[in-house]
Amino acid sequence: MRLYFVRHGIAEDLASSDFARALTPRGKRRVKTSATVMQALGIQPQRIYSSPRLRARQTADIIAQALGMDVDLAESVNFGFDLADARRLSDDCDADAEIMFVGHNPDMSEIVSELTGVTVSMKKGGLARVDADAAEADAGELVWLIAPKVFDALAESEQTGLIPAPAQKLPDTIAGMHELIHHRWSPVGFDRERPIKRKTLLGILEAARWAASSSNLQPWRFIVARREDEVEFARLLSVLREGNIAWAQHAAVLMVACSRKFRKENVPNRHAGHDLGLAVGQMVLQALSQGIYVHQMGGFFPDKARQLYAIPDDFEPYTCIAFGYRGSELGHLADAQLGRDAAARERQPLDEMVFAGGWAQVADFLD
Ligand SMILES: Cc1cc2nc3c(=O)[nH]c(=O)nc-3n(C[C@H](O)[C@H](O)[C@H](O)COP(=O)(O)O)c2cc1C
Repeated sequence: MRLYFVRHGIAEDLASSDFARALTPRGKRRVKTSATVMQALGIQPQRIYSSPRLRARQTADIIAQALGMDVDLAESVNFGFDLADARRLSDDCDADAEIMFVGHNPDMSEIVSELTGVTVSMKKGGLARVDADAAEADAGELVWLIAPKVFDALAESEQTGLIPAPAQKLPDTIAGMHELIHHRWSPVGFDRERPIKRKTLLGILEAARWAASSSNLQPWRFIVARREDEVEFARLLSVLREGNIAWAQHAAVLMVACSRKFRKENVPNRHAGHDLGLAVGQMVLQALSQGIYVHQMGGFFPDKARQLYAIPDDFEPYTCIAFGYRGSELGHLADAQLGRDAAARERQPLDEMVFAGGWAQVADFLD
């Protein structure tokens, strides 16, 4: 048998009773991360038994949802859970069954120690896997003891690379393109629980900084708001048009992208928009190389942005930009928005945009 023991995630200190203590937002976020990794590790228990206390139940529910299962509430997994309880709950299972128990300390640590003869101390949100013929003292082998930090690191390494686009978003193209370009698209379904780490964000901004620009003027400027800073995030969100707020509110980072319209005083820079677009293009690809998607928006109020951020007259706010990881749970989106992410992408054919010899003359190398 493969037995999984999970200690509930980080819970609030106070509630109307100990029974009602819920997971904190951080606790939920961490358990979600762990659950994603559990799914990637191929954990597939036949049963998930949970203590009825709210923090354990919520932990079990998050895991069960990620694994596509239901939770069985079991009073015996409540405080005082012991080897005899584990034996009773696993008695009628096959020898190769996988069973998960979600409960509390010290019970979880003690039962794993008893089963394996190895003294363990489980962290909140931690998981132990014990392989055993039966739930008997010293009968098991401690195969994994995973702390939440390790789950975080595993999730990070899982999701820092390019995430393949869903089939309907893949370009219908005959030409070979770099895989980053091949897989880029503009989603509305962001993971509202997953922030973008500071270092990753700096990499994205550096990618813009190192873009080419006319006379190396680097006319771009970016006003950035991270979701962690609720006040600034709400401020930037308020600049967007309603249709964009509906989904962009779930992004991890928002930006207003501006460009200086003048080379020097009274000398317009015809390339201001071009250079900003190029810098944003580099950000998009840098972000995607880290598993982060980008959705650009023309739907915002430039005058409001100008006023709110005191943008000088010689700069133009061109677009707003949303960055974030793609979410798997998108219950917060309306059907119309979900439909957008499910729709196929379309483009005009090359011969309508690539000419040779004169305007609208189709280049013969396109055939
Ligand atoms: C300058 C610019 C402005 C855009 N404005 C919006 C917008 O306000 N709202 C929106 O949902 N998408 C907006 N988009 C996203 C486009 O609709 C999207 O890029 C286009 O449909 C092609 O889809 P793809 O990016 O998935 O290939 C904008 C894109 C750009 C580059």
